[in-house]
Amino acid sequence: MFSKLFNHLNSSIIKKQTMGVAGLLLCGFITMHFLGNLLIFVGPEAFNLYAHTLTSNPLIYAAEAGLLAIFLVHIGVGVKLTIENNNARPQKYYMKQPTGRGANFSSSTMPYTGIIILIFVILHILGLKFGTYYETSYDGVKMRDLYKLVIEYFRQPSAVLGYVVAMLSLGIHLRHGFWSAFQSLGFNHPKYNNLLILISKAFAFIMAIGFSSLPIFCFYKGGN
Ligand code: HEM
Repeated sequence: MFSKLFNHLNSSIIKKQTMGVAGLLLCGFITMHFLGNLLIFVGPEAFNLYAHTLTSNPLIYAAEAGLLAIFLVHIGVGVKLTIENNNARPQKYYMKQPTGRGANFSSSTMPYTGIIILIFVILHILGLKFGTYYETSYDGVKMRDLYKLVIEYFRQPSAVLGYVVAMLSLGIHLRHGFWSAFQSLGFNHPKYNNLLILISKAFAFIMAIGFSSLPIFCFYKGGN
């Protein structure tokens, strides 16, 4: 009986750690994606040249396959943990804050904000990566005019609104997820826990507001 309990506990810790590592890798991806997307503010040439440099590198296929695998691991383990958590406790709660506070809005809505982000990512890839192929050229080099596509895409107020809602959900997800990943990986020091919560809040805020600013900028740039 004890060995069974130990196995269960052990595997659930491993699942949380796996999810934490995958989550932190995804945080790395969105940080790089955000920094690259900031070139939209600079102008078409800067953004298109950046996107062209990325997509014309043959390593991009390996990077995309790796990213997809990380997404799938994060989602798969997340669904399993949520089901196990729901079955184990009549009254659901997520990991307590180190300050002794119980579940907060961000921690108790993780599955819901996760679903919104998943729907967002699918629509996002269909709409932009697999969207209309406009072409442009700089110094005789032909390339995809992704800048034009992004501006066209955000001409629709419904797309802008959808993105802002999704980015706020991303912020709420990151607010708990970033901190929680470190906890799962064993970072738990009373001296630094409050600092980690502050860093999680700042990261979530920058991602939510920073990513939301792009569709709003494109909407006005598109001459609406
Ligand atoms: C709101 C501002 C955002 C803008 C303007 C934006 C822009 C873009 C563009 C233009 C592409 C196509 C790149 C290409 O085909 O080479 C793309 C791909 C992608 N974006 Fe975003 N993005 C935004 C936010 C996000 C967020 C918040 C996430 C994740 C939560 C995300 C995840 C992805 C993924 C996974 C891809 C496919 C990457 C690949 O297969 O190479 N994006 N994005």
